[in-house]
Amino acid sequence: MYYPHDFHRLEGELACEGVPLRRIAQAVGTPVYVYSHKTLVDHLRKLQQAFAALRPLICFSVKANGSLAILRLLVGHGAGLDIVSGGELYKALRVGCPPSRIVYASVGKTAAEIRAALRAGIFCFNVESAEELEAIHGAARRLRTVARVALRVNPNVRAHTHRYITTGVKDSKFGIDPATVQGLLRRHGRLSGVRIIGLHLHIGSQISEAAPFVRAIDRVAVLYGDGRRAGAPLEWLNLGGGLGIIYKDERPQTPQAFAAAVVPRIQRLRTRLILEPGRFIVGNAGVLVTEVLYVKSSRGKQFAVVDAGMNDLIRPALYSAYHEVMPVGRVREAANGRATYDVVGPVCESADVLATGRRLGRLGSGELLAVLGAGAYGSTMASNYNGRLRAAEVLVRGRHWAVIRARDTLKDLVRHDRLPARLIE
Ligand SMILES: Cc1ncc(COP(=O)(O)O)c(C=O)c1O
Repeated sequence: MYYPHDFHRLEGELACEGVPLRRIAQAVGTPVYVYSHKTLVDHLRKLQQAFAALRPLICFSVKANGSLAILRLLVGHGAGLDIVSGGELYKALRVGCPPSRIVYASVGKTAAEIRAALRAGIFCFNVESAEELEAIHGAARRLRTVARVALRVNPNVRAHTHRYITTGVKDSKFGIDPATVQGLLRRHGRLSGVRIIGLHLHIGSQISEAAPFVRAIDRVAVLYGDGRRAGAPLEWLNLGGGLGIIYKDERPQTPQAFAAAVVPRIQRLRTRLILEPGRFIVGNAGVLVTEVLYVKSSRGKQFAVVDAGMNDLIRPALYSAYHEVMPVGRVREAANGRATYDVVGPVCESADVLATGRRLGRLGSGELLAVLGAGAYGSTMASNYNGRLRAAEVLVRGRHWAVIRARDTLKDLVRHDRLPARLIE
């Protein structure tokens, strides 16, 4: 079985660093997300070290995990933040991220969001259309400032990942086609409210090899030459996120191998580097601990019905994603060998299946299971669907742990509802 980073067995019981997961589940209940401080920091360090030659700005992608405690800890270790909304800008500022380390991507930034980011003085907007460039220029002029921008190029490179997380192909909504980028660079001086300081690429997520990144860099290289000849001050390349991790039996490149493949090319471009990793830093730093409610057999199939559902972790339902599942306690031998289960949640949707056909030993109600690799795009994609309370979140550091997000209460479920008597009575 694959144990991610700082999750391992302590006297037979699954633990995060020095804390048994059972102890956390007993104290705060289930489902609960548990994150390892050490894993988070180690992953950030690995990238910082691999790319040190370029003095990179590594902006953690808030969409992967927006917990304030995790953001604060990564910012404290030198990370910047990659945001995609006014809400994420608010969080980035709340945790004290220096605005000079904030980059902002999104195909649909509103006027209010652009203004807020300009007022905050963020480092760079990743611009996704010619119209957005005009909008940022107009807003900057009105605020008597100049916005730094990177044009997001759609390089039409396939990243061999799930189609919902492929973003760099020509029929995707993301980025600007190279011909349009070329035109914008040639006319760069026309818009006095923006300074085009670089180009941005983000070709997809969970990419396990360097080749698609290399192809993407090669496709934008000509734009640097062209843009500079036209006088555009292109000093940065933002390579986006997308580094793959191990969920099952993937063999993703190491940060060193990735750096070895791309650093020489970036040096040839004569730019500094921005990276926007999300999954790589937090994916294997978190697990979702859930309790078996019932075990049921139906027509020869065994189901473990657990108290976490697709509202807590939507990746299996949305992307058919694989997550390793393991008992928190010792695996108990089943009478007929190791029993095989589909691990399903309580949500009223057939898609509410966390894992299928897993050999988990003999399970019974009350048993705790850990869903591994749940740190990225887990809690941030959670919802209250089916009137379910969003799970608690816990951070572990060595032998210490603390709640970093309390479980929703019933009141949270109705906090924003209104009952306008004139309309409903
Ligand atoms: C623009 C951009 N940057 C970075 C990321 C983070 O990607 P990952 O978590 O795969 O590193 C994403 C993810 O969708 C993204 O859209």
